[in-house]
Amino acid sequence: MRVIIEPDSAAASRRAACFVAELVRKKPECVLGMATGSTPLLLYQEMIRLHREEGLDFSHVKTFNLDEYVGLGPAHPQSYRFFMNQNLFSQINIDPNHTHIPDGRALDFEAHCRLYEQKIKDAGGIDLQILGVGSDGHIAFNEPGSSLGSRTRLKTLASETIRDNARYFGGEDKVPRLAITMGIGTILESHRCLFLAFGPHKATAVRDTVEGPITAQVTASALQLHREVIGLFDEAAARLLVRRDYYAEVEISQSLLEQGRHRELGIGGV
Ligand code: GLP
Repeated sequence: MRVIIEPDSAAASRRAACFVAELVRKKPECVLGMATGSTPLLLYQEMIRLHREEGLDFSHVKTFNLDEYVGLGPAHPQSYRFFMNQNLFSQINIDPNHTHIPDGRALDFEAHCRLYEQKIKDAGGIDLQILGVGSDGHIAFNEPGSSLGSRTRLKTLASETIRDNARYFGGEDKVPRLAITMGIGTILESHRCLFLAFGPHKATAVRDTVEGPITAQVTASALQLHREVIGLFDEAAARLLVRRDYYAEVEISQSLLEQGRHRELGIGGV
């Protein structure tokens, strides 16, 4: 995993938006995997700014969201469809028909999840998947113990997740118990992942994900098997990483490579 540590979440989100913008400019009909929660909010604000001020064009972009609460329709203020419409889709020039989110009101879950996977395949797969992380190290709603080969399916939320999200619902008893979520196997098939984590409450999850063993108990750790993950953290979330110096060295090499300063890296030497 490439690890980029920025001083704060605003700087990290601007950096994340650069990766999104670079892709959208290079491949206007790209497929983005979207996440919800507080983590990607600044990234979405920056994407909106890039659209308004720099004309970043989303008209051919397709999106697939990671997950949705079971039982909540698009009009429910805590549904992820509502969140996405409010915080991103209504503020950029994306075609609403190109945006996909599992339907929390589906009754035949198996068929719905199979169809969701098929739609991702038909779109050519996800080019760039945006990811946050739960405090227990889950990605999407793949709670601890989820199969690392799992596909889109119904999942029971862990008590930790229910506790974390109770603030949005006004009490733990109001949080849905089930969600539809892309599986770890689905996420691992995306071409590139942007893994974002901000704040001291994410430090353990970040350490376990980046430097811990691969385990179904920390489903984000499966990202170590992914071909191209960029971890973007603020100082607070990165504070338990022990190989920080090395990650900084890698970024220096990366920047010299991007600037074509090959000689300084010993490329083309005797
Ligand atoms: C939920 C979502 C995840 C998200 C996590 C963290 O569990 N399903 O996709 O990463 O919350 O949320 P936040 O970014 O608000 O900390």
